[in-house]
Amino acid sequence: MIKTSSCIFSFFLLICFLAVVAFGGTFDQEFDVTWGYGRVKILENGQLLTLSLDRSSGSGFKSKQQYMFAKIDMKIKLVPGNSAGTATTYYLSSVGSAHDEIDFEFLGNVSGEPYTLHTNVYAQGKGDREQQFHLWFDPTKDFHTYSILWNPRNIIFLVDGTPIRQYKNLEATNGIPYPKNQPMWLYSSLWNAEEWATRGGLVRTDWSKAPFIASYRNFNAQTSKNPTANSWLTQSLDNVGLTRMKWVQKNYMIYNYCTDTKRFPQGFPHECTLN
Ligand SMILES: *[C@@H]1O[C@H](CO)[C@@H](O)[C@H](O)[C@H]1NC(C)=O
Repeated sequence: MIKTSSCIFSFFLLICFLAVVAFGGTFDQEFDVTWGYGRVKILENGQLLTLSLDRSSGSGFKSKQQYMFAKIDMKIKLVPGNSAGTATTYYLSSVGSAHDEIDFEFLGNVSGEPYTLHTNVYAQGKGDREQQFHLWFDPTKDFHTYSILWNPRNIIFLVDGTPIRQYKNLEATNGIPYPKNQPMWLYSSLWNAEEWATRGGLVRTDWSKAPFIASYRNFNAQTSKNPTANSWLTQSLDNVGLTRMKWVQKNYMIYNYCTDTKRFPQGFPHECTLN
């Protein structure tokens, strides 16, 4: 009798736990506003968050939780219209001088011209691993899912489930630093980067179009605290994933540090020769 009821009890606990894990909390439960206070709005009972940027300030938020490996998904709708000079960031980062960081950054453009999706990986304070992409859709028309899979084997950047970049853990085999010892927080911000963002700063922000607004929905984090459904913790790219990533890189990649001979005349960083 006691056994049955405690089993039923733990069964409901598990269902409850899975529900929390699968749907994530509301934006006010999951994040703190860190910057530009009145410019961060949480709407629709915590299901929608908007960031805004005007001439005097941008805005941003940070996760309450820290993550030690995670699969993070967020739906984002970027600043529409003339978004030149704006930068929307979405990244994981630890703190301290030798910090780790996994970056998505969306650089705006004049109306009708493509956004640039900028990515980077920092390990123990060192980044310089930029790859940039255009997208195969207009990221300002609808919400699209941008995901970071960070596990002990690799980091995978995904757009609507399509992998666009993989950074492998080659630390044990090749001594290349890999983020694996420092917990990270999730950050996002919308700020003015007109000095460099659009065509290297040639196109400036049109402040008559302010405020600029980026919107967020459906945040979900799978963490290693969750003892069930943690297949993401060992996930890597299978052949289908590799083929799709190659398709993106062939058709939409506009910059890759691993092929920038001007920047690395003495030879590419070690990981470039191994991937
Ligand atoms: C803006 O549009 C130009 C022209 O299509 C393109 O070369 C550039 O990559 C786009 N993005 C940024 C951020 O400048």
